Amino acid sequence: MNQKEFWNGKFIRDGYLYGKKPNAFIESCASNFKKAHRFLCLGEGEGRNAVYFAKRGFEVAAIDASDIALKKLEEFAKEEGVYVKTRCRDLNEWTPKKKYGSIIASYLHMYKEDRKALFDKIDSCLKEGGFLLESFFL
Ligand SMILES: C[S@@+](CC[C@H](N)C(=O)[O-])C[C@H]1O[C@@H](n2cnc3c(N)ncnc32)[C@H](O)[C@@H]1O
Repeated sequence: MNQKEFWNGKFIRDGYLYGKKPNAFIESCASNFKKAHRFLCLGEGEGRNAVYFAKRGFEVAAIDASDIALKKLEEFAKEEGVYVKTRCRDLNEWTPKKKYGSIIASYLHMYKEDRKALFDKIDSCLKEGGFLLESFFL
């Protein structure tokens, strides 16, 4: 089973699996992010963080392996009157094409053997002086 199938199996249920409120730790760090910079959410799922930052005026893009989660993200963004650019990709197959000033990953469960390659990609697309935030709790 690939990541898309695995996560679609979880997000197919009604409702928002992780809720609509942003990750509390990421929210508590929000003042560190600069609006002038592109904002990227990795493994963003149904969009609780992406919508939070889009509502605060950030230009936000979100990548996730699950097309079902991203559909919910788009619906949520629409309800809130904001736009989030979405891309359905397995991050193991993702090639960054732009630079970002802010990158977040909330509860992104990558296999241990895939993490270094992802960090190398993040390193290649994070602007100098940019900010990466990972949260594995809240
Ligand atoms: C525990 S959920 C967290 C979702 C969201 N970040 C949040 O905090 O609400 C993990 C998310 O990472 C995504 N994910 C896991 N492995 C991935 C991969 N290899 N490529 C892209 N997305 C992945 C899943 O589809 C899922 O949406």
